[in-house]
Amino acid sequence: MAGALQLASCTSQPTSDGETMTSEQTATEKLPADVHSYAQPAEAVTKHLDLDIDVNFDQKTISGTASYLIDNLTGTDKIVFDSRNLQIENAYLGDNIEETTFELGETNQFMGQSLTVKIKPDTKKVTIKYKTSPDAAALQWLSPQQTAGKKHPFLFTQSQAILARTWIPIQDSPGIRFTYNAKVKVPKELLAVMSAENPVQKNSTGVYTFEMKQPIPSYLMALSVGDLVFEKVGPQTGIYAEPATIKAAAYEFAEMDKMLVAAEKIYGKYRWDRYDLLVLPPSFPFGGMENPRLTFVTPTVLAKDRSLTSLIAHELAHSWSGNLVTNATWDDFWLNEGFTVYFERRIMEELYGKEYADMLNVLGYQDLKHTIADKGADNADTHLKLDLEGRDPDEGLTDIAYEKGNFFLQNIEKAVGRARFDQFVNDYFNTFAFQSTSTDKFLDFLRSELIKGDEELAEKINIEGWVYSPGLPEGFTAPASSRFAKVEEAYNAWKSGKPAAQLTTKDWSSHEWLHFIRMLPETMSLQQMADLDKAFNFTNSGNSEVLAAWFLHSIKNNYATADKALETFLTNVGRRKFLVPIYKALNATPEGKKKALAIYAKARPNYHAVSTVTLDELLK
Ligand code: BES
Ligand code: ZN
Repeated sequence: MAGALQLASCTSQPTSDGETMTSEQTATEKLPADVHSYAQPAEAVTKHLDLDIDVNFDQKTISGTASYLIDNLTGTDKIVFDSRNLQIENAYLGDNIEETTFELGETNQFMGQSLTVKIKPDTKKVTIKYKTSPDAAALQWLSPQQTAGKKHPFLFTQSQAILARTWIPIQDSPGIRFTYNAKVKVPKELLAVMSAENPVQKNSTGVYTFEMKQPIPSYLMALSVGDLVFEKVGPQTGIYAEPATIKAAAYEFAEMDKMLVAAEKIYGKYRWDRYDLLVLPPSFPFGGMENPRLTFVTPTVLAKDRSLTSLIAHELAHSWSGNLVTNATWDDFWLNEGFTVYFERRIMEELYGKEYADMLNVLGYQDLKHTIADKGADNADTHLKLDLEGRDPDEGLTDIAYEKGNFFLQNIEKAVGRARFDQFVNDYFNTFAFQSTSTDKFLDFLRSELIKGDEELAEKINIEGWVYSPGLPEGFTAPASSRFAKVEEAYNAWKSGKPAAQLTTKDWSSHEWLHFIRMLPETMSLQQMADLDKAFNFTNSGNSEVLAAWFLHSIKNNYATADKALETFLTNVGRRKFLVPIYKALNATPEGKKKALAIYAKARPNYHAVSTVTLDELLK
């Protein structure tokens, strides 16, 4: 493992200050080396991918060819790709597919293997024939039983952070962008969709073609295959889902077009043409994934009251922060997520008012405090700029990037005023559109375009304190929410003995309920638990956020009434954000651990590899 990592760092081509250049960067616009990819883009880099694949549900494999147009920048005799757990069958050069040799490097657990293909100084095209393994980490193959319709199998990919290499041989670094075309063959009764221009209905051949005209990084490669239908929402927006889910989804996300309009008002034109959603089965390990033109989303946000749609605002916001201007390496992850959380809250404020966005900020702040406490106040993983060398990036990608990143940007906004900050961020997105950017490049831009030598302002913005220091900078003012102040009033009344049924909770949203449940004392009597449950029906809530927060209390207080609902939740839902705290709470007592292991044994086949990697470690 260490050997493979060393290989990666000593075979890259650092410039004098340890940074490598890709084709589009001049000497003055260097990007840091990506320690999570074997690719050497300064030598030979991919510009376009033609993917031609067959999806085989019986074998649980994808097989076919990945054909790349490349730039050989130095006249080198090799191009290096990333691969993990792939069967590489052949490699060819040029249009008349002349066979060439290739070599797979040493295997590293999360990095996989380098795939070095022999090329010529004038090589323009490289084709790789390959097949995935049935346990490819990016792929989840669902049986009909694991879908909403129960009749057809389902497949989806999850490529972020470094899993694209488990289903395509690829230069798997966020600093490298390419356009793509794809031809995908699937069983005739299913529809295929990708992070590209998509079909809206099935055809009789089962062969679908795709085009992504804008250059994207590899972690945004995405494919899903299932019994899918499409429903239009607005002129530019729509939803793909299983027939059993489409109506609920169309209701829940009816406001997505308005979100797009609000987003464009803040940061300018949406650059990806259409914005559609794909609602996945509940095993999807994330809340959402910003695959360009087609956000993948968990069905656990279908709360029936549109109360969890800030997640859509978040994934939509990535169309600017992340997909348009991309973190160069996973150490710069906060550039993707911090900007996106900031933008998500701006979109929600535009649509539902400041009081609404304030609630999201307070909940985010609670999450952030939790993560900082969990990691330890001095932990370098609580810096915005990370150092993930030698580690699986998945481990380092925490709430810090999201919420600390957001509060850093809110802090800059406060220092210069909204109008000036909006202009600055607009300029930032336009300057770096369709490029990758590092923390250093962003900070250079911040200094030259906003701070401009104003020392008082520089002190207020406090780059050092936010970006390169742990925890939160001194003097940070925690966000507050007037709607939550009312929740706190109700809570205090309950704590002083007022029966739950008599509390004023009219018109509370999911966020208010979540705040209330999070405030409940660690230890409660069964009588108190039952009183709350009787008044508010938490155990049978249809709201996944409410349920997940409530189960933490039911576990700690041995409230057996919720056991059945807990087991049902854990066996159906694969969203890691919910699973981890719940399994952790169970794991805290010997009794609970037994329960956790019994449920996990049953539920594990329903989880994506992204979740099982974390849970296997937790429950081992
Ligand atoms: N891009 C992320 C998901 C991700 C991050 C996948 C890192 C793999 C590695 C996505 O935009 C995201 O942040 N999703 C959140 C929801 C959001 C509202 C905070 C999630 O899934 O919980
Ligand atoms: Zn995100």
